[in-house]
Amino acid sequence: MDVCVLTLFPELFDPFWNHGIIRRAVQGQKIKPVTINIRDHAKGRHRITDDRPYGGGCGMVMKPEPLAAALAEAKAAMPSATTLLLSPQGRRFDQALALSLASEDGLILVCGRYEGVDERFVDQHVDGEISIGDFVLTGGEVGAMVVIDAVARLIPGVLGNDESAGSDTFCDGLVEHAHFTRPPTFEDEPVPDVLMSGNHREIERWRRETALMRTVMKRPDLLAQRDFSPQERDILEKWRRDIDRLIG
Ligand SMILES: C[S@@+](CC[C@H](N)C(=O)[O-])C[C@H]1O[C@@H](n2cnc3c(N)ncnc32)[C@H](O)[C@@H]1O
Repeated sequence: MDVCVLTLFPELFDPFWNHGIIRRAVQGQKIKPVTINIRDHAKGRHRITDDRPYGGGCGMVMKPEPLAAALAEAKAAMPSATTLLLSPQGRRFDQALALSLASEDGLILVCGRYEGVDERFVDQHVDGEISIGDFVLTGGEVGAMVVIDAVARLIPGVLGNDESAGSDTFCDGLVEHAHFTRPPTFEDEPVPDVLMSGNHREIERWRRETALMRTVMKRPDLLAQRDFSPQERDILEKWRRDIDRLIG
């Protein structure tokens, strides 16, 4: 996937492209990243990219011309890419959106700064707006990294077999089961026996049961619309019997 970021701070992305799974994805050409400095497309000796807002008020607004020119450069190289603006006003980013973006040919992510970008650029050039949460950042760069990171690991071949995203939190509408590694006992707390048993059916059932339990405890909202599988219904029935026994 071609991934292009339009930003006033391209250097922020250098370490991002060069570490961990994202680096591996870049090296394996699963993602082909480009960072375009919006300032390179600003005219004049001072290469000004922002100006005071019409109507007055505080803060500065990113000018539309440098943004449009930077986007034209990106589009020339990746004409079928989708252009998304990072914005607290956008659609809330989640795993479902990450999954759908992972099948795009290319993504162009536009990072705002200051009070945001001139609305005419949004109207005429942006396909959609993405928010990474209900809070306001100083710029879109961290948000763009969040989006790229979450999308990249869902592109086939980016994660190795032993790193599959299949059982991750949200993938199946639940939070994931707990993980344990060596040592067998840490600060007097042992690893659950079942995980040491070698019985893969029991381990799978324990994982499904604890995923369900953790979802009830941590994110009950995820269960509101859930169509429980027969195995999950079995587990819930068992809990009901256990609770009935407890309360007599
Ligand atoms: C200070 S914010 C501008 C906020 C804008 N004045 C508003 O109230 O909607 C500057 C830039 O940070 C980015 N940004 C801020 N919060 C964000 C969020 N929750 N998700 C994605 N991008 C965000 C956007 O690119 C935005 O243009």
